Amino acid sequence: METKDYLKILKEEIHSTVIATVDSDGLPVARVIDIMLADDNSVYFLTAKGKAFYSQLVEKPFVAISGMCGGTGTMNKKAISIRGKVECIGKEKLDEIFRENPYMAEIYPEPETRSALKVFRVYEGQGEFFDLSTKPITREGFVLGEEEKQANAVGYVITDRCIGCQMCYSVCPQKCIDTSDVPLVIDQMHCLHCGNCMEVCPVGAVERNR
Ligand SMILES: Cc1cc2nc3c(=O)[nH]c(=O)nc-3n(C[C@H](O)[C@H](O)[C@H](O)COP(=O)(O)O)c2cc1C
Repeated sequence: METKDYLKILKEEIHSTVIATVDSDGLPVARVIDIMLADDNSVYFLTAKGKAFYSQLVEKPFVAISGMCGGTGTMNKKAISIRGKVECIGKEKLDEIFRENPYMAEIYPEPETRSALKVFRVYEGQGEFFDLSTKPITREGFVLGEEEKQANAVGYVITDRCIGCQMCYSVCPQKCIDTSDVPLVIDQMHCLHCGNCMEVCPVGAVERNR
C-alpha cells in the first residue's frame, strides 16, 4: 500500500484518533481528535482557537497521532500512528471538512459558530501501519511529504556474526525470521520488535537499530 492508502484508512475507517502534543512545561498531553480529510500526503484536523490544544500546536508544531479500529477482544484490528510536522492553514478547507463530515454541523450548526475553528495539516513525518488480523501480523512504515523513509529505523537486524543456530527463530512469536540462509533474516514487515531474538542470541549477532 502507499501513503495515501494508509491516510485514507486513518480518515475513513479509524477517524477518531488520539493526538499528543507537549505543553509549555514540555509535558505530554493527549486528546481525542477526528481526522477530517486525507489526501496523498497529508491529513487534516481542526480545533478551536480557544483550546489549549491550539496553543500547543502553534507553539510546537509537531504531533504524534495514534488511532485504531476493529472489534474489542478480537484480532480484527488495524492501527495507524504518525509522528510529524503540522501547520495551521486557517479556514482553508473548512467548508470541505463540513461537507465531508456532516456530523460536524451538529456540533457547530451555523456558520457564525465556526468562527474560532482553525484547520491544521500534518504534512511531513513518519507513519506506521499495524494490522493484527493477518498471520503473521503486518507492520509497515510509510512517510508523509518530504521526509526520507528511514529504512529499518526501528527494530532488529541479524548481522554477519550469525552462526545459524536458529535460537532466535525458536523464540520469535511471529516466526518471521527466514532461516533458509546464514545470516538469518528478520522479515521487518511482520516483526513485533519484542527483542526476544537479541536476548537469546548466543553470539550477539542481533542488533537493535534504535
Ligand atoms: C470522538 C471525539 C472527537 C473529537 N474531535 C475533536 C476534534 O476534531 N477537534 C477538537 O478540537 N476537539 C475534539 N474533541 C474534543 C477533544 O478530545 C478535547 O477534549 C478538547 O479539544 C480539549 O482538549 P485540550 O484541553 O487539550 O485543548 C473530540 C472529542 C471526542 C470524544
